[in-house]
Amino acid sequence: MKLPAEKVAKLRTFYEGREVCVTGGAGFIGGHLCDALLSLGAAIRVIDDLSNSSLEHLSGLIDLEPERVRFVHGSILDDDALKEAMAGAQSVFHLAAMGSVPLSIEKPQRTWSVNATGTVRVLEAARGAKAQRVVYAASSSAYGDQPELPKVESQIPKPLSPYAASKLAGEHLMSVWANCYALSTASLRYFNIFGPRQNPDSAYAAVVASFVKSVLAGEPPTVFGDGSQTRDFTFVGNAVLATLLAGACQSRLSGQVVNVGTGRRVSILELATGLTRQCAVPHLQPVFRPSRTGDVAHSLADITQARNLLGYEPFTALEDGLGETVEWYKRALAGI
Ligand SMILES: NC(=O)c1ccc[n+]([C@@H]2O[C@H](COP(=O)([O-])OP(=O)(O)OC[C@H]3O[C@@H](n4cnc5c(N)ncnc54)[C@H](O)[C@@H]3O)[C@@H](O)[C@H]2O)c1
Repeated sequence: MKLPAEKVAKLRTFYEGREVCVTGGAGFIGGHLCDALLSLGAAIRVIDDLSNSSLEHLSGLIDLEPERVRFVHGSILDDDALKEAMAGAQSVFHLAAMGSVPLSIEKPQRTWSVNATGTVRVLEAARGAKAQRVVYAASSSAYGDQPELPKVESQIPKPLSPYAASKLAGEHLMSVWANCYALSTASLRYFNIFGPRQNPDSAYAAVVASFVKSVLAGEPPTVFGDGSQTRDFTFVGNAVLATLLAGACQSRLSGQVVNVGTGRRVSILELATGLTRQCAVPHLQPVFRPSRTGDVAHSLADITQARNLLGYEPFTALEDGLGETVEWYKRALAGI
């Protein structure tokens, strides 16, 4: 994944030599963020309990850059581990979370502990380490099923699942820590992020990873509901760009909530058809299952705030991102 050339120089000026802590950095988005931070010259410390990831990608980074990558294997609920990961951090990216809606319905208390209480712990550790800014991976699920589209940050949130409620709580914590402790914070509401290395194997896999895995195995994609649900699918490179821009933003950030999407939506059925075509198996027709509790019908980001505040512009289009993702899974399946 490459960052847009016109942004790199400015980002490098900010991140070169910077000490950065990434919670959840062994995960899907966190791993891509770590790649980008290293490419910009930052030194990173990752804290992750590997509950939904492995050390595979990060080990590669540690081998390449042993001086600039440190890994703390621990939970954000463990204050000692957090303190170790956070010591000396100037910037904090808080991505560690239980990230699945269906899993949160099965395990609401654990979801709350990790996502909400864990965020309090991260904020306190960041404050203790005198970090300058905490950027938080918030979620578009905060909007719930309200009919207004596109989703604008000023809409009243209506979370529909324990996951969404816990992620929304994290946003409030970000703004409260800015208010009470003058810690600079921002919450980025990611909209359906997809890309290479997203885990397709869990029962809770995100839709793009799960479709690509099925289609490449010659199996039909499974659609929950009738497939008319729409999503603003956002390539991970776009999310990483917005995240880096939020970390480096010179404006005063005090808990602002910012949508990170593309401003375009497609239906789940269109996604399935597009992927079967892209993988040259257009005869594979989706199979339909009952819709899942907690899923929202439609989602589309208004990205005006991200443009104005962060200078964010999505630079990878959906089709290109899907192409890159399919190619990565093909190589992974072939063991290359
Ligand atoms: N992927 C998306 O579409 C999306 C959309 C909206 C928001 N988000 C948010 O972005 C962040 C990253 O998501 P992702 O898709 O990369 O998920 P992910 O599961 O790949 O990454 C989360 C990481 O956090 C780690 N983790 C979980 N509990 C932990 C704990 N107690 N202590 C330390 N580490 C812990 C996991 O092991 C994993 O490596 C999450 O906060 C998620 O809520 C993601």
